[in-house]
Amino acid sequence: MSSTYSEFVTEVQSIADISFAAGVLNWDQETYMPQGGAGLRARQLATLAGLVHERATGGKLGSLLEVLGKDVSLDEVQRCNVKYVNKQYQRALKLPREFVVEMSHTVSEALSVWQQAKPAGNFEAFAPHLEKIVNLKRRECELLGYTAHPYDALLDEFEPGLTTAEVEQLFADVRKDLVPFVKQIAQQAPHSDELLKKHYPKDKQFAFSETLLRIIGFDFGTGRQDISLHPFTINFGATDVRVTTKIDEHNLSDMLTGTIHEGGHALYEQGLPANGYGLPSGEYVSLGIHESQSRLWENNVGRSLEFCKAIMPQLQAAFPEQMNGHSANDLFQALNVVRPSLIRIMADELTYHFHIMVRFETEKALIEGSLAVKDVPGFWNSRVREYLGIDVPHHGAGCLQDVHWSHGSLGYFPTYSIGSFYAAQFFAAAEKQIDGLHEQIERGELKSLLQWLREHIHRHGKQYSARELCERITGEPLSFSYFMQYARKKYGSLYQL
Ligand code: CO
Repeated sequence: MSSTYSEFVTEVQSIADISFAAGVLNWDQETYMPQGGAGLRARQLATLAGLVHERATGGKLGSLLEVLGKDVSLDEVQRCNVKYVNKQYQRALKLPREFVVEMSHTVSEALSVWQQAKPAGNFEAFAPHLEKIVNLKRRECELLGYTAHPYDALLDEFEPGLTTAEVEQLFADVRKDLVPFVKQIAQQAPHSDELLKKHYPKDKQFAFSETLLRIIGFDFGTGRQDISLHPFTINFGATDVRVTTKIDEHNLSDMLTGTIHEGGHALYEQGLPANGYGLPSGEYVSLGIHESQSRLWENNVGRSLEFCKAIMPQLQAAFPEQMNGHSANDLFQALNVVRPSLIRIMADELTYHFHIMVRFETEKALIEGSLAVKDVPGFWNSRVREYLGIDVPHHGAGCLQDVHWSHGSLGYFPTYSIGSFYAAQFFAAAEKQIDGLHEQIERGELKSLLQWLREHIHRHGKQYSARELCERITGEPLSFSYFMQYARKKYGSLYQL
């Protein structure tokens, strides 16, 4: 190994040390920190963020990158590490310091205004802040540069290489196939999810969620689970991965699906190469690929009839009264109720994508300048009526419902849908390549599926782009058709279509 390369690794890993230390503070803030800790914690996090920014844009890293960019002796993994760190470095250099500072002030102000405006449904209060954010984001697109559409520059931050045109094509397919399919389902007699709405005590739910994590292969030697208001996964390297779950005593579904979802994110982090600590070779590919792992476990596995059969005996043992007289099929039906609703995070796995479509169309129109901020509610409500068939009674349940815009995270939403579409395509490949996968799931044996994901996705870190990974695994680029096949098969049988 060249001495410049090892100097580079030391520098990048020590920046990662600071980031992961900030991550521990973030995790603590969401789980165990007393309320009184908030003020000092914000200060501690800001100091660490400043240190990371300074080092990650610093001259030392810059000169190392310059030398290594011309080093022909690097191997494939080393080249990958230099390439991605350089991409981040160049990106950061394109954004002047005053721009970064203005953005950070704007979003912290916007966040506190949004927190008040959402419950009040007061769009007028939030509008001037959204206006500032949109203007800054439009400037960011120009500073970063793009070829076809300014929104491409925003997508690239979360899903490198994904273009606006590709997202438009995927959603055109959603409109053509999934929107009418959901209308067909809505005409059938709905299944009941009463089974999941009984009283399920918190402690027993938590114990069961740990059972679920064990079933899917989560390693408690390199991870732990706690409770938080919003479930999340965070890691401080591949050997320390934390998940949280949310428990509602009157909704078992939150815990079941939430635990498997975060567990899927965690399995990815636990499967990344530990020798790539802090380096791109030890990092996830993109948010879409990360989400593909959580959704594959949550939806393709967790909401399947086979998985319901696998866990029913344990559920009956943990909740004998609540589950009395219920079959795996009852659980399968209850976990797959399709019902158009207003709130994205409560949506079923089909109508979920309509929510993302509304957000993508709104963001794209704002960034290209074809929609004014004051017209967002009208634009939003008309799309919700068109795709979901419902009226928005209150902006808090409409265009003000999500936190992303007040964080300045425009371009993020599409990765949620992309994740589900990748999941369906990967799972279809796994079905072909793993003998008797469905029978294994039904027996609660998930080792070979996890092994398959480790082999084809996890162990590669960032070595392949999302596009390359998808083609290597499935032989073709991302296509909505796999999700649609999955939906037709599962919901066709559930609703006799
Ligand atoms: Co997720």
